[in-house]
Amino acid sequence: MTIDIVVLPGDGIGPEVTDEAVRVLDWFVQHRAVPLRMQRRLFGSAAWAAERSTMPDATWNAIMAADALLFGATGSLDQTHIPPDERRKGSLLRIRKGLDAFANLRPVKAQPALAESSPFKARTVAGTDMVIVRELTAGMYFGTPRGVETQPDGTRRGVNTHSYTEAEIARAARFAFELARTRRGHVTSVDKANVMEAGRLWRDVVTEVHEAGYKDVTLEHMLADNCALQLGRAPTRFDVVVTDNLFGDLLSDCAGAINGSLGMLPSAALSAPREDGRRRALYEPVHGSAPDIAGKGIANPLGAILSAAMLLRWTANAPAEADALEAAVQAALDAGARTADIAMPGETVLSTRAMADAVIAA
Ligand code: NAI
Ligand code: MG
Repeated sequence: MTIDIVVLPGDGIGPEVTDEAVRVLDWFVQHRAVPLRMQRRLFGSAAWAAERSTMPDATWNAIMAADALLFGATGSLDQTHIPPDERRKGSLLRIRKGLDAFANLRPVKAQPALAESSPFKARTVAGTDMVIVRELTAGMYFGTPRGVETQPDGTRRGVNTHSYTEAEIARAARFAFELARTRRGHVTSVDKANVMEAGRLWRDVVTEVHEAGYKDVTLEHMLADNCALQLGRAPTRFDVVVTDNLFGDLLSDCAGAINGSLGMLPSAALSAPREDGRRRALYEPVHGSAPDIAGKGIANPLGAILSAAMLLRWTANAPAEADALEAAVQAALDAGARTADIAMPGETVLSTRAMADAVIAA
C-alpha cells in the first residue's frame, strides 16, 4: 500500500532542509522498499508569490487527502504585502487544526559527541532521552475571545484566552500515558495549577485519566516554571512530559539547549486514529525559517532528517528503518560531521547538503 506524503517546504531555510529530508527518504524508498510517494506543494508566501493565494485549493485538498505531511518552516521576513485573511488561510495553525493533529511529539536526546564540547554540559545532559507531548489544537493559541480592542478611554487592550475542555486534556493525557508504556513508564504533567483555573482542571483531568487506566505508569505533576529550571539542571529525570500548547512551545525550545542547537530537533503532530486505524500526521523540524541564515546552504538539516525518521516510525510503520536513520545521524555526528551551528572552533564545517551526505553514507 502506497503512503502518500505531501511535502510543504515553505519559507527561508524550509526548502533547504526539506530537500535533504526528502533525499534521505528517497534512499529508503530505493534501498529498503519503503512505499512512499512524495509530492511537493506550494503554500504560504511562496504560493502567494506564484498564484496570489497562500493556500491554493489543490494544496489544501492534497493536505487533507495525504497520509502525512513533511513540512519545512513558515515565516518570511515581510508578509505585510499579504492581506491578513490570506495570511491566516495559509498558516501552519490552520493546517494543524485542519488535521486535528492534537498531539505534538518533540523528542530530545543528548548527543554524546556534542556534549563533549563542555564538561559541565556533558555531566548534566548525558543520557537525556525524553519526549515532550505538547497539546497542539487548543489552549492559548486558539481560545476565544481574542483580539485587540479599543477601550472607552481610547487605549487598547489585547486579549487571548487560555481555554481547555476536559476532552481536550484527556486525549493528550491518554496519548502521553500510552507513549510512556513504550518507553520508561514515567509521565511528568506540566501546568500552572497554582495560579490558573484551566491549569487546575488540567491537573485534575490528567490525574483522573491516570487513576482510570494507567496506574502502571508513574505520574508526577510539575509547575511550568520549575520545569524550565529542571530542563536546564537535571534533564535526565524526564521520560514523557505532557503539557499544554503554550507551555509546550516554550519548554520544547528550552529543551533544545540540551542537544546544542534548535536545528537538531524533530517533531511530529498526530491526530487520533482514523477509521482505518491510521493517524493523520505532520512532521517538521522544531525550528522556524531562520531568515538570518536562509539561502546560504549552511542550515543544519538534522531536525528535518530526524523528523523524516519519525515519519518512518509513525506513518510508514517502519521502526527498523527509523532506528537505522537515527543511528546514521548519531554515527555521522560521532565521526565529526558538523554544520556551523554545532561546530566548535577549529572543526570542519559542512554545508546542509554535505551533512545530509554524511548521514546517507552512514
Ligand atoms: P528560528 O527557529 O527560525 O531561528 C532561531 C535561531 O536558530 C536563528 O538564529 C537561526 O539561525 C537558528 N536556527 C534555526 N534553525 C536552524 C538550523 N536548521 N540550522 C542552524 N541554525 C538554525 O526562529 P525565529 O528566528 O524566532 O523565527 C524566524 C521565523 O520563523 C519567524 O517568521 C517565525 O514566525 C517563524 N517560525 C516558524 C516555525 C515553524 O514553521 N514551525 C517555528 C518557529 C518560528
Ligand atoms: Mg516555538
